[in-house]
Amino acid sequence: MARRSFVAGNWKMNKTPQEARALALELRAGLEGWRQGDVGVFPPYVSLGVVTEALKGTPIIVGAQNVFWEKSGAFTGEVSAGMLAASGCACAIVGHSERRQYFGETDETVNKRLKAALAQKLKAIVCVGETKDERVGGTTQQVVKRQVAGAFAGLKAEEMAEVTVAYEPVWAIGTGLTATPAQAQEVHAFIRQLLAERFGTGVADSLRIQYGGSVKADNAKELLAQPDIDGALVGGASLVAKDFVAIVKAAK
Ligand code: PGA
Repeated sequence: MARRSFVAGNWKMNKTPQEARALALELRAGLEGWRQGDVGVFPPYVSLGVVTEALKGTPIIVGAQNVFWEKSGAFTGEVSAGMLAASGCACAIVGHSERRQYFGETDETVNKRLKAALAQKLKAIVCVGETKDERVGGTTQQVVKRQVAGAFAGLKAEEMAEVTVAYEPVWAIGTGLTATPAQAQEVHAFIRQLLAERFGTGVADSLRIQYGGSVKADNAKELLAQPDIDGALVGGASLVAKDFVAIVKAAK
């Protein structure tokens, strides 16, 4: 089944609002007229407003790098799904490995964030992936299976229409070590099979699975040509407009 590609730029903790606006305007120019696939950018919270403004009238969606599950209240430092939606956000990343590694994110909190995002009609990119030790120890499938089961616990098949999964092997993130297209394809196919078992083949066949981990302009084409790789979640290379544009245009 033909799935529309989805390439997303995770800007992480980079760019002031002024720099974010400049990058958004460069992307706007570089992707002028591009309609062959979906594109999203995920700036830090403080730049969501300027980036949304800079991309107004384009099909490029703007999303947040995280979302909290409570609606409002005494949760210093957190931002709710309702606030994001009201700020023009269309999507949120949940469960990024840096959140899991440095900020105590668990499969359970990923699930709560995802449910909160969907309840506010946000789309979500749910990240899964094994560490180097897990890969070397031969537990990649076991880890990914646990993360998928945890993230989607209690979700209904129809809710999955707004979800994208990002397979990001932790050992490939920011390291310059990319999974080979064959390694990535193998896990993507496994994830799709898990989704088929849980939600049926209709959901699994239409849901997009992005690859993430040192995706660059020069390796994107080969990765994105794999049958179960439907796009990319790009970190470092999404901070340079021409590199990100090249990755977007490498998508099938
Ligand atoms: P990277 O990051 O492209 O810099 O490896 C990917 C990600 O963390 O989403």
